[in-house]
Amino acid sequence: MRMSKFLVGAVAGIGALGIWFSVNAAEPGAAVSASGAARPDTAKFSKVAEMVRDKCMACHTRGYDLPFYASIPGIKQIIEQDYTDGLRALNLREEFEEKAAGALVSESTIAKMEWVTVNETMPPAKFTAVHWSARVSAKDREAILDWVKAARAAHYPQPLSVAPRRNEPVQPLPDALPVSPAKVDLGKKLFNDKRLSVDDTLACAGCHDLQKAGTDNRRFAEGVRAQFGDINAPTVFNAVFNISQFWNGRAADLAEQVGGPPFNPIEMGSKDWKQVIDKLSKDEALTKEFAGVYPDGWTGDNIMNAVAEYEKTFVTPNSRFDKWLKGDEGALTADELTGYRRFVAYRCSSCHVGVSLGGKSYEYMDLKKDYFADRGNPLGSDAGRKDFTGKEEDLHKFKVPNLRNIELTWPYLHDGTATTLRDAVRIMGTYLSGMDIPPADNDKIVAFLRTLTGEYQGKKVEGRPVAE
Ligand code: HEC
Ligand code: HEC
Ligand code: HEC
Repeated sequence: MRMSKFLVGAVAGIGALGIWFSVNAAEPGAAVSASGAARPDTAKFSKVAEMVRDKCMACHTRGYDLPFYASIPGIKQIIEQDYTDGLRALNLREEFEEKAAGALVSESTIAKMEWVTVNETMPPAKFTAVHWSARVSAKDREAILDWVKAARAAHYPQPLSVAPRRNEPVQPLPDALPVSPAKVDLGKKLFNDKRLSVDDTLACAGCHDLQKAGTDNRRFAEGVRAQFGDINAPTVFNAVFNISQFWNGRAADLAEQVGGPPFNPIEMGSKDWKQVIDKLSKDEALTKEFAGVYPDGWTGDNIMNAVAEYEKTFVTPNSRFDKWLKGDEGALTADELTGYRRFVAYRCSSCHVGVSLGGKSYEYMDLKKDYFADRGNPLGSDAGRKDFTGKEEDLHKFKVPNLRNIELTWPYLHDGTATTLRDAVRIMGTYLSGMDIPPADNDKIVAFLRTLTGEYQGKKVEGRPVAE
């Protein structure tokens, strides 16, 4: 039971909620990387981890027991609500203690810690009003921001950014990733090969059209035999930077993902790799090329490996925003730059973080308000990550989509219901950020989002910009 770990430290005189928690947990494991080397931010991390344990963990971890006074009517609801909402926003034990032994704190958590510190929102005011000792001091804040900067520099280094912008939550894309050119050539052929589908009518490119910024610009994708699923096709551009693939993260990486669509009955509808390979192996030229790269010849694993290698080339650098990050002061207009600042201020960058502005965490689509009740017409895909993990706590959680080339990848959201960027931004404000965004700010954020269109292999990413 976790109860023993919460010491009721003091009961302040102000109000009935005079409670203060301290988490008497074990020392966090030494911050040592898998290779055994001490991480450069170790001392700073330990300092923050200790503070988090004392002042924050009460509302941000699972398995707590409510203290006795929580049974007093009225108080129980307030405390429970803070526990529930705090934990839904972020599981700090998972990020600070379980990961301390080696894994890195995610970029998204770093950005969230930065946001609550800069905006001084944590712990919530109604809590600190009565729990003085849980207040975060100026020194605590300094320690958090110091660690944020050190952790970014150590684990998510940004050599491409001009020095004063290296600590931004959003960073420039690399120009390219290392690949094997021979595998890329093969992967490209397979990505465009309709024989991966049961009736030879549909290739990967049919739903991920590079002339449409790697999407189909439809609400729901059309599979073989005119069948439709109930989830929007995300872009394949920059998918390589995702922590996992698919909206619910059910594929660990690009190669594993390739094993999905060919055998999805409403996508490409093939039976198994054998059925696909029976067709491909009749193609002598392709078989020869394939054996040249993969000595063991046609196998499902090799096909997945080749397509994934091709997808690693789907990196789209040199957007105007990236140019600004790299130090080109004239790359953005004043409105676009204000739009970026608003994007950060409205917490967007807490989730849309890193080089691809997303893909780094799973988040509740109904974090701040019940999106699904307001939208109506339930879809099977609404379950989100729960569909994969089976865990109730993952209901309505989705992998954060990346926002690169976003003006071209419409319509938006897993349900494809947002048909303009203005809509998507408004919905995000209400349901994910918990702030209503006035139209003037919305316009500026949209102007910023339109600066995220980059280049693929030296040419501007192709596609039709979303309507106003
Ligand atoms: C009394 C319970 C409580 C305590 C104590 C508390 N939090 Fe929170 N925390 C919440 C709630 C509720 C939310 C969600 C509402 C919000 O974001 O304001 C939240 C949200 C957050 C978020 C997510 C913000 C985002 O942008 O998604 C972070 C990060 C966070 N808290 C950090 C902290 C830190 C650091 C401390 C300690 C200094 C702390 N919290 C202490 C209740 C708490
Ligand atoms: C019938 C249309 C269709 C075809 C054909 C198709 N996809 Fe997809 N693709 C989708 C949809 C829809 C999703 C989202 C499904 C989900 O998340 O459950 C998706 C998701 C993906 C993702 C995950 C992106 C992310 O950000 O999570 C990648 C990568 C991808 N597809 C690559 C491929 C490859 C490679 C092929 C060929 C082997 C392929 N797709 C064939 C429709 C299609
Ligand atoms: C708490 C995390 C979180 C915050 C904060 C957040 N987003 Fe999102 N964003 C998501 C998730 C998750 C989705 C996908 C949800 C879905 O489709 O069900 C998403 C989807 C989007 C999309 C659609 C992308 C696509 O390809 O379909 C846009 C655009 C977007 N967000 C912009 C913003 C902006 C602008 C803000 C700030 C006002 C913001 N987001 C705040 C997590 C977040």
